[in-house]
Formats: sequence, structure tokens, C-alpha cells
Amino acid sequence: MSAKELLYECENVHFVYPDGTPALSNVSFRIWRGDRIAVLGVNGSGKSTLLRLLDGLMEPTGGEIRFMGTTLIERNLQNPSFQRTFRQRVGFVFQDADAQLFNATVWDEVAFAPRQMGLPEEEVRIRVMDTLNLLGIAHLSERAPFRLSGGEKRKVAIACVLSMNPEVLLMDEPIAGLDPRMQSWLVNTLRLLHEAGKTLLIATHNLHLLPEIADRVLILSEEHTLLADTPLQDALQHTPLLIEAGLLHEHLHAHGDTIHSHLHTHEHHH
Ligand SMILES: Nc1ncnc2c1ncn2[C@@H]1O[C@H](COP(=O)(O)OP(=O)(O)O)[C@@H](O)[C@H]1O
Ligand SMILES: [Mg+2]
Repeated sequence: MSAKELLYECENVHFVYPDGTPALSNVSFRIWRGDRIAVLGVNGSGKSTLLRLLDGLMEPTGGEIRFMGTTLIERNLQNPSFQRTFRQRVGFVFQDADAQLFNATVWDEVAFAPRQMGLPEEEVRIRVMDTLNLLGIAHLSERAPFRLSGGEKRKVAIACVLSMNPEVLLMDEPIAGLDPRMQSWLVNTLRLLHEAGKTLLIATHNLHLLPEIADRVLILSEEHTLLADTPLQDALQHTPLLIEAGLLHEHLHAHGDTIHSHLHTHEHHH
């Protein structure tokens, strides 16, 4: 068996926004083809920033990110042949579907990227139909994306990315805000993509669904450093680590005249 192909190398990545806000500090890790990684961390820890950097939408202010050996800097991203390869291989699903959708119809929305790639219109038509059918949203093809429900918009946003047939999928909190039926649909879709050999990097807060969507976790601290890069099972068994990352918190509960402490995830109301 051949060694797994190395896709991304992040070396001592720092990012500070132009207004001086620090967002990532000294983050290093690698991603191999077929990896299924969850990016964990509290709000503001830097998850979305990391995904934007991996998608080449911004450049690190320190350190370096390489995709298949090529450094993600403006000069390389503007090189037509690298740009084409990179945009074709890496798909990014934004947290906010509204920020991603801008075409008049769902069909045009999903056709946008394949057309940009310069595929012949017949090939575009086949890709769009296949993708809409895969996601069960063919009936929405003539609808205006901005008039759809939140869950439908999320499906269209995912369809836009899948229509490119990318090898790597970067997804920013794709589960947040979905109802239970949509959640299990998404988990199932992610499993099929993984089985098809895709590389998945998913930012999430959802500890409950982690075993179904990830094999490995990257945990960002509130100080924007990489607290852990570890197999999922190790992270789930290491409660202090999850508390340190702010993903679990201890609560004191009074029951009669005794007090005990419970661990809670942030999705539970208490
Ligand atoms: N466009 C921006 N300008 C300035 N600061 C930002 C911007 N976007 C995010 N930040 C800040 O960068 C830090 C990391 O944010 P973000 O990557 O969005 O974290 P997360 O996705 O984990 O919630 C936060 O302090 C956030 O307020
Ligand atoms: Mg975010």
C-alpha cells in the first residue's frame, strides 16, 4: 500500500486581522488525503480564520501554509494553473449560507463554479443535475436561493461546493442551526463523502456528533494556539483537555442538601 498523500502543511501559522485582533498563534499541523478532521474551539478561538486561510482567502501574517507543496500566497494563488487546480480541489462551505449564495436560481447557483471552470454547458448540466439529485433538492432548481429555508440554503451551499467535485471539503459549522432530521442527513452525507475518499475538515461545537464525522481533532485554545492534534477517541477520553478548551464546563448543582458537579457540553440547556 502506498503512503497517504500529504495535502496540507501548516507551519507556525500566525494570523492577526488588520485591526490588530489576533486570531491564530503558532499553529502547525498536516492533513493527508482521506483525513476526517474536526476543528474544535470556543467562539473566537480562530476556527473560521483557519478555514479561510486553508481556502486561500487570506494569507497568514506569519508562518506558512502549503497545499501539495505550493505555498498559499497571493503570487501562487494568482498563477492561473495553480489557481485552477487549487479551486477545483478545495471546496469551502461557509458558516453563513447567505454569504455564499448570490445567483437568481438554485440551478444557476450550483452551475456557477463548474461554468467558472470552463466546463462545456452539457457537462455543467450533468454535474448540476447529479448534485441536485444527490442532495434531494432537484425540485428547488428554479427557486430563488434567498427565499429558501435555512436548511434548504445549507443544502444549496453544499451542492455548490460538491458540483466542483473537490477532493478537500472545508466546512464551517455545517451542523449548527439544523433540525435533527437535517443533522442526520448531513452526517450521512459526510459519511458518504468520506467513503468516496474525500478529505474533510469540519469546524464544529457539536461534541455529540463528533464520533460520526471525525477521526481526528484539532483543538484551538482561547489564546488561538493549537491545544491538541489527536485521534478523536483520545480527546473524548481526556476531559481536562476539553474543559481547558472550553468545550465542556463544570457546573455545581444542588440536589437537596448535597452538591455535586456535572460535566456539560454547550449544547445542553441547564
Ligand atoms: N474580520 C475580522 N476583523 C477583525 N477581527 C476578526 C475578524 N473576524 C474574526 N475576528 C476575530 O478573530 C478571532 C477569531 O475569530 P474566528 O476565526 O471567527 O473564531 P471562531 O470561528 O472560532 O469563532 C476573534 O477574536 C474574532 O473576533
Ligand atoms: Mg467561526
